[in-house]
Amino acid sequence: MKRGNIGVLPRTNSLADESYLEFVETFRVMNFVKMYPAFAGASDSEVLERKGKSDDSLSLKEIKEVIGPLPISKTWQRFMRTHQEMMWRRVRSSFVVTEKEHLEELKAAETKGPGKLIIDPNFVTPEQAKREIHLQPGGYADDEIGGIVFHYGTKTFYQGYNDQNEHHIEFVELAEPPQDGKVERILDVACSIGQCTTNFKKRFPDAEVWGLDVALPLLRYAHKCAVDEGIDVNYIQALGEDTKFEDNHFDMVFAYIMFHEVPVSVMRKTIVEMFRILRPGGTFTIFEFPNSSQGLPPSQRFLIDYDSRNNCEPYSPGFVKSDFLQIIKDAGFDTKPGKDSSNPFLQSIVATKPA
Ligand SMILES: C[S@@+](CC[C@H](N)C(=O)[O-])C[C@H]1O[C@@H](n2cnc3c(N)ncnc32)[C@H](O)[C@@H]1O
Repeated sequence: MKRGNIGVLPRTNSLADESYLEFVETFRVMNFVKMYPAFAGASDSEVLERKGKSDDSLSLKEIKEVIGPLPISKTWQRFMRTHQEMMWRRVRSSFVVTEKEHLEELKAAETKGPGKLIIDPNFVTPEQAKREIHLQPGGYADDEIGGIVFHYGTKTFYQGYNDQNEHHIEFVELAEPPQDGKVERILDVACSIGQCTTNFKKRFPDAEVWGLDVALPLLRYAHKCAVDEGIDVNYIQALGEDTKFEDNHFDMVFAYIMFHEVPVSVMRKTIVEMFRILRPGGTFTIFEFPNSSQGLPPSQRFLIDYDSRNNCEPYSPGFVKSDFLQIIKDAGFDTKPGKDSSNPFLQSIVATKPA
């Protein structure tokens, strides 16, 4: 039975599912908040003791040789994989019970406003976007109920601190408007289920706001949520690297944790495309995972490698090795550090198209 929503968050289809997933969420809190610092501390000191250094001159192989066999490392890796598998299995098996009804709701919302959903019937999903990122069954693009599954799955990922989009609201608040203050058109690139997109409209009610993503299941769900809330935002299925928008169209563009999830070639093209569609003086605010130019400790390099192999993050090692900031500058942007957020793990960059 459908059990409605709590605010913007859908409820699972049974109390038993909700309770089980609350356990998984707490398991994740234990893995990340309690166990990760202990794992990282033990790993970094062991590397320093055994190798006499802990900087970038160490190869990943050397780091893995030391950290891999540590008992805390083995336990932590098992817990990380297991909690992720438990979460997706239970989330999907819960929402699949009302799949038919949910798909009818998504279909009915397609023609409703206030905003539009633009689907390209000839769209071909690139191979790059078909991976089961974070182990989500079917990935972002190949499960018709992937939107609601992603929504509840990421509730667990955010450990209960984003149930009403609190993090997304914070990142939107930190996005930097152009210096001249003119904000008529905004694009949220790789918007997933639109948790930032709708909040851009709340922050800039007079602006035309667009969310763009490659994954139709996420966009259809995003559109339904916006319709339910009566928020006037538009969603479009397109590629970040080939948006089809006109030159100089947007005053602000925004990307929240997109770039570590695409190949470096797609990242480069997307940044060039963002430059093209921004008007002179327009701003591109980016929140993203860290990369190696920031000098990562061995434990974090181990974590990124772990994630790429065991949590289906195939592109993050390439992202980490890339000179992300230089790639943004090479596209023509002036860059400066963006504002700090409550997530110290993320880097923040404001890139401005010179006026
Ligand atoms: C981690 S999610 C981004 C999170 C999202 N910005 C939010 O507000 O929660 C990565 C997103 O990138 C999208 N994506 C992957 N490749 C893409 C591409 N080439 N063009 C546009 N979107 C892409 C995925 O479908 C997915 O929704």
